[in-house]
Amino acid sequence: MTVRLGVLSTARINELVLPAAQACEQIEVLAIASRELARAERYAAQHGIERSYGSYASLLEDRDVDAVYIPLPNALHIEWSERALEAGKHVLCEKPLARRRQQAEQAFDIAERVGLVLAEAFMYRHHPQTLQVKSLLGAGAIGRLRLIRASQSFTITQAGDVRYSRALEGGALMDVGCYCVNLARFVAGEPERVYGEQRRGDDGIDLLFSGTMRFAEDVLAQFDAGIDVPTRDFLELVGSDGTMDVHDPWMSGSAEPLITIRRDGETEHLTTEPGEAYRLQLADFAAAISGEREPRLGRADATAQAAAIEALYASADSGRPVDLGEPGRPGKEPARR
Ligand SMILES: NC(=O)c1ccc[n+]([C@@H]2O[C@H](COP(=O)([O-])OP(=O)(O)OC[C@H]3O[C@@H](n4cnc5c(N)ncnc54)[C@H](OP(=O)(O)O)[C@@H]3O)[C@@H](O)[C@H]2O)c1
Repeated sequence: MTVRLGVLSTARINELVLPAAQACEQIEVLAIASRELARAERYAAQHGIERSYGSYASLLEDRDVDAVYIPLPNALHIEWSERALEAGKHVLCEKPLARRRQQAEQAFDIAERVGLVLAEAFMYRHHPQTLQVKSLLGAGAIGRLRLIRASQSFTITQAGDVRYSRALEGGALMDVGCYCVNLARFVAGEPERVYGEQRRGDDGIDLLFSGTMRFAEDVLAQFDAGIDVPTRDFLELVGSDGTMDVHDPWMSGSAEPLITIRRDGETEHLTTEPGEAYRLQLADFAAAISGEREPRLGRADATAQAAAIEALYASADSGRPVDLGEPGRPGKEPARR
């Protein structure tokens, strides 16, 4: 089965996703929409896309489009995911799907009601290196997991970038810190308590965010994320018996996948097959649409991810730690220590 995909906007990230779609035999990019028809037409011609639309809504009316990919600014993710689902389209939405748990729950309620796939696009989760990290931890490669340290940062070079806009839900945690949070949840389960600090810019968005998360069995995570500091991609996992350094953990660069394990005075370097995260993400989406399996990042993952982001911002805004009630659900009064 080939999934005929529509793309909502001419976002820069498409430059990585469109070649991946071309390499993915289950996907055909049929249509592109932009806020301006001329831009959509130009883009379609440049990228060999058959159909172009001058609004996102008009693409959703195309009956031949089975599914949409949504690389819009963050504040538009939920609105257009919901509109696409209501129009009968499966949805692959860029990270982060939502800033608040309730928004994510509502979108998945719609997906379940209409019987369509909704998935959050954390492409690094599809990469063999990420899966290998998890399986090495499961096999006890560094003993019991104790600490996760993660960073992602870069300097925005383009004036007017959507990441600088409060109205469009930019900010360091939403843009890049979400990867650190996602990885910590992937390997340690859902956080029980979080604490955040931020340095804000003119528009009130977080230019730098630093967070701590506490998980079951006393596993701790520390992360930082920035959008006006130099590029850093970092992940270290510390266990009772060893440490694991994960090179290029978010697949931002083109470097060879590499995991370094230090244990008992020995150092071991493990390479993984290169894997193309964006293609694997699209293949996973297509497999979920055809009913072969659930998407790798479905409801439970995306709603708990939104809950963690919500709690971290609530903590940074209040200056107090936030306890999450049921796994991934904020609500309890902050605990005092
Ligand atoms: N997974 C990854 O590796 C990865 C990497 C980068 C970004 N992302 C995510 O992808 C999304 C897009 O990021 P990007 O850097 O590609 O964004 P971008 O280049 O700024 O593109 C966003 C697009 O959204 C449309 N848009 C609609 N309303 C807008 C508004 N009010 N202001 C500006 N643009 C508006 C525009 O397209 P039209 O004018 O054509 O309508 C614009 O080109 C974000 O959610 C980001 O987190 C993911």
